[in-house]
Amino acid sequence: MRPLVLLTILIAFHCVLRNCFCTSEQDKVLSITAVTQEQVNLLQNISSHNETVLWQPASPSHITANTPVHLYVQSSSLARVTEQLQTHGFLFRVLLENTQRLIQEQTRNDTTDPKSSGTNERYHSLEDIYHFLNKTSEDYPDMTKLILIGSSFEKNPLFVLKLSGRRGPVDKAMWMDCGIHAREWISPAFCLWFIKFALTFYKENPDITTMLDKLDIYILPIMNPDGYKYTWTTNRMWRKNRASRDDSLCVGVDLNRNFDANWCTKGASSNPCSDIYCGQYPESEPEVQAVTKFLRSHKDVVKLYFSIHSYSQMLLFPYSYTHEQIPNHNELYDLVQEASSKIRRHYRNQYRFGSGAKTIYIAPGGSDDWAYDQGIKYSFTFELQDRGQYGFLLPPNLITSACNEAFAAVKTIVLRVLVKLQ
Ligand code: ARG
Ligand code: ZN
Repeated sequence: MRPLVLLTILIAFHCVLRNCFCTSEQDKVLSITAVTQEQVNLLQNISSHNETVLWQPASPSHITANTPVHLYVQSSSLARVTEQLQTHGFLFRVLLENTQRLIQEQTRNDTTDPKSSGTNERYHSLEDIYHFLNKTSEDYPDMTKLILIGSSFEKNPLFVLKLSGRRGPVDKAMWMDCGIHAREWISPAFCLWFIKFALTFYKENPDITTMLDKLDIYILPIMNPDGYKYTWTTNRMWRKNRASRDDSLCVGVDLNRNFDANWCTKGASSNPCSDIYCGQYPESEPEVQAVTKFLRSHKDVVKLYFSIHSYSQMLLFPYSYTHEQIPNHNELYDLVQEASSKIRRHYRNQYRFGSGAKTIYIAPGGSDDWAYDQGIKYSFTFELQDRGQYGFLLPPNLITSACNEAFAAVKTIVLRVLVKLQ
């Protein structure tokens, strides 16, 4: 009996020790609020260093007083960073204790057939996404068409899946892209969910039936395949594409700063090492070129543009590059307001809404602003779940609820616009 008791105590002690050790060894995400201007400057400084990754806002330059900053801090720098914060009297708390565990949970292949479906509650690797698109276009030859619109910097294909109801040609279309930013995994997950949902419930769900009967729906599930792949293999926190250039060691362009819409003015960076680097010139990136070429040649039919991002739960419309209002500001404001209240009523979740510049920050070179200036008057950017509890590391079991509410918003806007366009 005695040795057993001792053993039990030892094991218990070991577990306690190991637990403390493990948690203190983790990379963490901190929520930090600067109050004074001095603290703002300091926080900008801390978040510019390599061992931290800024989650929110997208760049140190966007940090302002009294708005919580979400900062990913590597374990090796945690002691130094928290000490600095304490010394300077910051308000902060730990948002995520154990990022490694969350990352593991998201990349684990625990279904019997990992390629079985694009929409069960898990995230999908780039390879799985391509497989899903091929399979879906084979399974629904009469309702889909797989279109190769270009390729990425690393020569990964950029596929658009065109969805249509079983009917003759129509003169209206909508566009939706996902995965501009690599680490926003819920975004491509939503595009896949949408495709599956639309094809499964066509002729069963009246809303999806109306959408597919009245519109061709062009979906680009992953605009930034290179970056996405990199988040699966190397760095889960990566945002940009993976373009490299001869005169800099830093990799990647922010694709949502590379469009030709007041390109590289305030709110973007010309520093290749920045997370909001605008690239060498407007549309310098092959991913952006592919999208703009396709949309330019479909300009007359595409009436609605959606770009899906995460996180922070916002329904945004142009402009982001200026505080000036677009001519149909009130119309779009009403649409996102209605979409937001639908989410609130049906899913008890809050989405803020408004123009990009007013609701988040000034940011030029964005796809929604570019599409709007091309004449697509119903142009939106959605920021999906959550509001910072898990941030980019949204657990797989929340994918379905995130997709359902995002769909409610898309549906509300599309059905409304269809009536207007009649
Ligand atoms: N979080 C997105 C970004 O920083 C916001 C996109 C809003 N639209 C825009 N054109 N910036 O890219
Ligand atoms: Zn984004």
